[in-house]
Amino acid sequence: MQSPGESRDDAPLPGHDTQARQQDARDAKPEGLQSLSEIYDDARVKLEGRLTQYRLLHSLSVADIADLMANVYEVDPEYARLAGLLHDWDKNYSDDELVARAELFNIELPDDTRNMAALLHAQTGACAVAREYPRLPPEILQAISRHTSAAPDMSELDMILYVADMIEPLRSAPSLQLLRSLAGNVPLEELFIKCFQSTLEHLIRRHRYIHPGSLAVWNTYAAKERARNRKG
Ligand SMILES: [Fe+2]
Ligand SMILES: [Fe+2]
Repeated sequence: MQSPGESRDDAPLPGHDTQARQQDARDAKPEGLQSLSEIYDDARVKLEGRLTQYRLLHSLSVADIADLMANVYEVDPEYARLAGLLHDWDKNYSDDELVARAELFNIELPDDTRNMAALLHAQTGACAVAREYPRLPPEILQAISRHTSAAPDMSELDMILYVADMIEPLRSAPSLQLLRSLAGNVPLEELFIKCFQSTLEHLIRRHRYIHPGSLAVWNTYAAKERARNRKG
């Protein structure tokens, strides 16, 4: 798989060939990127060199849905749109490259990394865009870093990105119809839990590995739901 271009990382990456370095030079960060809309426009162009056509369209679709959801759930829509655009910044790297990038960014690798290397694109992507765009708010970086495995203390922006990534219209799984119908009609946390549950069910049905951290996230929200039901 061709590695996406990268402009500000400090060390060469596996598979980072001459062509990629030339792309790096073209991607060199222009001076004066101040506003989030300037960052959006710059990133939109750079992503054409980093992602496949389908993944670029997916990212734009996630940005649109995250913006819509943010307006409904009263979260900053500009943050949501930008998080949506940037969330798969590192998605085109291979598993080996992602492990190398995680080491480059000093991301702590769990013992079971080999079972879930693909998920690392969330954390490495957050680190990479933080270098690329130093003015990005930490809330956006956190949402990007949590969009694969989630976390026990998801912010509203984190939840919007997680859900938007799952229900954006280019995804075709039949099970998404119900989740889409819930968007805007149930509280955001309930929608997130339903999406997270759907992810876990999908993994179990396909006999796929589930990261222990994901089970911890599930247990946290299941306990919260139980407590709410007891009170109600
Ligand atoms: Fe992703
Ligand atoms: Fe995605």
